[in-house]
Amino acid sequence: MKRFFSIFFIMSILTTSFAVPTYANEKDDSITKQGQQQMINVAHRGASAHAPENTMAAFQKGVDMKSDYIEIDVQMTKDGELVVIHDTTVDRTTNGTGPVGDLTLEEIRRLDAGSWFSEEFTGEKIPAFEEVLDAFRGKVGILIELKSPELYPGIEEQVAEALKERNMNLPNNEKIIIQSFNHDSMKRSKAFLQAIPHGVLAGMSWSDVTDEQLAAFATYADYFNPNQNIVTPDLIDRVHAVDMQIMPYTSRSQEQADRLFHLGVDGIITDYPEHVYDHPVKKGA
Ligand code: G3P
Ligand code: CA
Repeated sequence: MKRFFSIFFIMSILTTSFAVPTYANEKDDSITKQGQQQMINVAHRGASAHAPENTMAAFQKGVDMKSDYIEIDVQMTKDGELVVIHDTTVDRTTNGTGPVGDLTLEEIRRLDAGSWFSEEFTGEKIPAFEEVLDAFRGKVGILIELKSPELYPGIEEQVAEALKERNMNLPNNEKIIIQSFNHDSMKRSKAFLQAIPHGVLAGMSWSDVTDEQLAAFATYADYFNPNQNIVTPDLIDRVHAVDMQIMPYTSRSQEQADRLFHLGVDGIITDYPEHVYDHPVKKGA
């Protein structure tokens, strides 16, 4: 028996002494990785420089290009279904015409949302919101913009229901963020989805945003995502001072991505994920 305990004691010592360096190495690796992946790379409307915006092809391209998030614009059809499209009419990005809210899901699904971009994408459809969730959850983060929610009463609750049905409303379960230019809509959404980070979008008119306004945003939002043209070092500091993160939109050139990177934003919303991912500093060069 005594011998058994001696062997057990020696084994414990050996296990402990080997376990410590292994843990230390893993920790070092994760720190390095964290450094490399610090900048959140958001594929705007999918990788929309490379495939027609807000289509499954553009979202898949965002995944293939190693984006951290795909950004999607959500609206509602005449028959109350959630669909993913940027403009409030289908005119620019499909072969149809008319407001999104005047068309049924079936009418919307008949439209070609790819050939305006290039022949290669003929037949791409306007995706249903739930189709995007089911196809991309767990593969990439999803930055959900409620587009013009004032046109679609109840859209916040409907988006929340779709997430809850999939248990995507739970903290740290999936990478989900909800954002909008309509800040009242974000307050409503936050009430339905307490554990999901929310963002306020801010156009050029917010260039003089005050500390008080930022503090008020911070009561229900985790991100202040402004037009890139109003981003200054001072704004970044003030956003961070209220414990929010900042992911400006929409970078469309390497120069714009480089500027934002060096200013120290938390993420970049871009049509070109390669501008962020391939940044020399990010590569550790
Ligand atoms: O994600 C921010 C950005 O998408 C906001 O602008 O017009 O492209 O929806 P917009
Ligand atoms: Ca958007």
